[in-house]
Amino acid sequence: MFNRLSRRHFAKIAGWSALGLSTKSASGQTPSGTQAGPSNRGQPSSFPGHFLWGTATSAYQIEGAVNEDGRGPSIWDRFAHIDGKISDHSTADVANDHFHRYKEDVQLIKALGAKAYRFSIAWPRVFPEGTGAPNPKGLDFYNRLLDELLANGIEPFATLYHWDLPQSLQDRFGGWRSRETSKAFADYAAYVAERLSDRVKDIFTINECSRLVYSGYGAGIDAPGLSLPPQELNQVMHNVALGHGLAVQAVRAHGRAGTKVGPAENLVVCIPAIETPANIRATEIATRELNAGYLTAILEGKYTDGFLAYAGKNAPTYTAEDLKIISSPIDFVGLNIYLPHHYVVAADNAAGFSLLPFPKSFPHMESDWLKIGPEAMYWAPRQVAKLWNVKSIYITENGASASDQPVADGNVYDLDRIMYLRNYLTQLQRATSEGVPVLGYFLWSLMDNFEWADGFEKRFGLYRVDFNTQRRTPKLSASFYREIIERNMVV
Ligand code: BG6
Repeated sequence: MFNRLSRRHFAKIAGWSALGLSTKSASGQTPSGTQAGPSNRGQPSSFPGHFLWGTATSAYQIEGAVNEDGRGPSIWDRFAHIDGKISDHSTADVANDHFHRYKEDVQLIKALGAKAYRFSIAWPRVFPEGTGAPNPKGLDFYNRLLDELLANGIEPFATLYHWDLPQSLQDRFGGWRSRETSKAFADYAAYVAERLSDRVKDIFTINECSRLVYSGYGAGIDAPGLSLPPQELNQVMHNVALGHGLAVQAVRAHGRAGTKVGPAENLVVCIPAIETPANIRATEIATRELNAGYLTAILEGKYTDGFLAYAGKNAPTYTAEDLKIISSPIDFVGLNIYLPHHYVVAADNAAGFSLLPFPKSFPHMESDWLKIGPEAMYWAPRQVAKLWNVKSIYITENGASASDQPVADGNVYDLDRIMYLRNYLTQLQRATSEGVPVLGYFLWSLMDNFEWADGFEKRFGLYRVDFNTQRRTPKLSASFYREIIERNMVV
């Protein structure tokens, strides 16, 4: 329920540009079969030869051990302990106990044949107070994890911030309401880059700026659970984007040569309702406008005229220097793609597009926000490549919740998840075969975990987790994914 509300809220806010605004698109190349880019070798339905297959998790959702080795409290510890915030009344104090079981979990990744793993670093393990004295014991967990991954031939991709803000920053500065948090984030990023970039070559700054802002500070259904008025909310948005930019600079300044850095954003995904040239063009305009506060700002170094006109007196306060920082050059764009947010048609209005309403019968997965629109996986990276001439894209998350009940033989035959993945991956293959520069795909998630306000009620894993015994069991989708990885094609 909580997530349904959050996604709706987000879609509502994201729909502002349909109100009739003038738009102008950045130029870029049209992905096409003839364009230079990764080419498919082997069978026509295969992915590029160097395509990287992986899975994804995040620290608070799996680690547990919230009080071990000097970790400080995070806003999610505080939030999950407030009665009524998590639908099954759980917390992630233990979660998957990954902190103690990481070696076993690395073997789960290896068993899939995956060559990459996206995980996040818990800021409060590394800086228990968010700033000040670092906690080397906290960082050591990630040293151990990295060594284990590399010893097993798995390339680590680290996210610096997946929502577990040190509580102290919330108490002292109001969290992302203050630029102090953006600056503290850069210091933390510098520290991590300096110490871990000998082994982590690819770093994501912030996971889903837009969700952390709207669900955490707007709808109040994610930590820290605030519902701020529009101007303050826009300021949070700006401070988060600024934090991203400062972290990019910090990684560049303190990471080893060759360290790559970029965002992992949940783009508002716009799809042409019918694939006509006019609708495709209108959809690109919509994508640029509906992502104005995040990806558009990061890639263009400005807030669009449409966004500023809509925000009016509620626009954030910022300087030209801020925008330069926000748009610091990045090495790749990470996209979390789960659902189609809007189906679009060209329209004879000031915006140039209209967003169609969803019929009540539109299909969704176990989480009712998770609409099934596989073409999202084709159009989103294609638009990002074209609108902003982006040359390297990772799908940093994609996956589905399912009911996942074991049957009499003890197995989970998650045919619905397989159906979802097969369709999305077919669309991804369509994109790569046309030259859209997607370099890799991280499936959410390696295993069932603490799904934020849904607690343990929603399951996204390739491995089922029994949270009483911590036993991990592969679902049918794990075999399906292993087959895809092995053959480098959708099966
Ligand atoms: C993504 C997040 O937005 O969605 C993940 O990055 C999250 O952390 C996933 O687990 C599923 O969302 P939810 O709200 O159903 O847990």
